[in-house]
This record gives sequence, C-alpha cells and structure tokens, in this order.
Amino acid sequence: MNDTFASYPSAGTSVSFQTGQGGLPMLAVWTPASVAHIYLHGAQVTHFQRRGEQPLLFVSAQSQFAEGKAIRGGIPVILPWFGAREGKPSHGFARLHAWQLSEIRTLPGDQVRLVLRLPECPEAAEWPQFEAQCAVTVGDRLAMELSVSNTDPARTLDLQTCLHTYFAVGGITQVEVRGLKDVGYLDALENLAPKTQTEDPMRFAEEVDRLYVNTPHAVEITDHAWHRVIRVEKEQSLSTVVWNPWIAKSQRMPDFSDDEYLRMICVESGNMSPNALTVAPGAQATLRVRLSTRPA
Ligand code: BG6
Repeated sequence: MNDTFASYPSAGTSVSFQTGQGGLPMLAVWTPASVAHIYLHGAQVTHFQRRGEQPLLFVSAQSQFAEGKAIRGGIPVILPWFGAREGKPSHGFARLHAWQLSEIRTLPGDQVRLVLRLPECPEAAEWPQFEAQCAVTVGDRLAMELSVSNTDPARTLDLQTCLHTYFAVGGITQVEVRGLKDVGYLDALENLAPKTQTEDPMRFAEEVDRLYVNTPHAVEITDHAWHRVIRVEKEQSLSTVVWNPWIAKSQRMPDFSDDEYLRMICVESGNMSPNALTVAPGAQATLRVRLSTRPA
C-alpha cells in the first residue's frame, strides 16, 4: 500500500495549500482518520484515504491537470448539465474552472469542512443566474454537499447535478455492486434503451454504462480483492450511474490508460435527465453524498 501517512502525526487536523499536478493549487487535508486532496480546479476531490486502507478514489495516470480541461478521476462535480450536449463540453462547465475557497472549519469529531464556490464562468451567461457551492467534509468518511441556488429574478433553472465518483478497486472482475435490483435504467450502450436491473449483485465482465432512474437508495461496492465494502449513501438524489469503460473505450480515451479499467468503477450520484431538477427563482437544490468503507 502506498503509505501517505508515514510522515504525519495521528492527532489533530491540518489543512495546507500545496502545488498539485500541472502546477494547480491543491488543498491537502489531514485528520486523525484520513487524508484528502482537493483541487480548486473543479472543486475536485482527487484523493481520500483512511489510515491503514487503500485509497478510496481512482485518478488516471494519463489525466490532464490544466485550466479548461477535466481531471480524469476523483470526484468531478458535474453541473449544470450531465452528458453530451451539442457544441458544448461534456458534463457541463463547472469541472473546467478553478473554484474559490470560501470557508475552512473544524467540526466535532476531528472533521474538517471546506466550502468552495463556483466562480463567474463565461459559459454561464446563457443560463439563468445561479450560484453553486460544494462543501467537502473530511473525517473518518468523506461527505460532499453540492448546493445550487437560482438567483435569477424571473427565470426557472433546468438543472442536472452529479458527483461523478471514480472509486479505486483492487480488480474490477472481483467487484460486486448491490442496491440496484429491480431499478429501471437507461442503457447508454443501447441508445438509452429503458431496461430493469435483474442482476443482484451486479458483476463486471464488459463495458457498462447505465443511468439508473428514480432511485434514492444507497449503493454498496464490494471489492473482494481489497477486502473492502464501499458504501455510497445519498440524499436528494434520484439518479445513479454505474460506468466502466472496459477495453475498447479505455483505448479510445486519450486521458486514460488502456488497462486502467481494471482498477476503477464509477458509481455516480445525482439528478440527471429524466430526474433533472426544475429550480424556481429564489429556490435551492442540494445534493448530499456520504462515502464510507468497512472490511468485506
Ligand atoms: C459517465 C457516462 O457518466 O461519464 C459515460 O455515463 C462517459 O458515458 C463518462 O463516458 C465519462 O465522461 P467524460 O466526459 O468525463 O469523458
């Protein structure tokens, strides 16, 4: 195991600004239970690791780390739209900009909470006025809260949000996903054909790209290689995506190594079409996700 704890004391909390990959500013957060790295770019958590455990999050060795580019891995914050949109960047523009750190606070139980705000983005000019902030709480587990407020005096905000989490696993063929039995999904590999999940648990032997709808439930990822269960709990989220690009798509993605599909699984929580949100002027939408682990 890569021991990022070796030189750190096991008591107290600390937060420091560091220069991350590509020279981008990154916050390193230490708590007695864990360490986390959060880039201002995209408000993207790229690393979370509990003491004595493997890292929770996967980041591609081929990822770009540059203004205007998406980081391939960790937890991309997706808004105001999810997926492809003609002439526009995939998965919205929030992950392409450096967010602003607005708050650092210690919470009871040796947790650290950071709040980042989406800056003014040129792409937002075509949208009703809105403000977005992302709170990241680091402790024995990792919690995220993405809030979007419609600050427009008159226009309704049609919004999709997603915390597009890339989990690190010991080996995809030894992974099982539970919590989606009997849930309806749109199969992105068959032109979004509507289907219903029959497998339980779900196992992986080929490309999977499914948008589960109308599901508020938690999902668990059992990773037999690393003897770990990852629990993904969510609030105010009706959509879950499960994605692994497998071999051919890995080869097509320039910012992803050909064999990295073996070491990751995306389980993404949010509100994506057809669970897109309609946020009235003055109203706010908040998505919460909590990630925890236990031995398998
Ligand atoms: C997933 C989609 O959410 O994101 C996949 O379901 C897509 O279809 C993947 O390939 C990665 O998207 P991007 O834009 O980060 O390459």
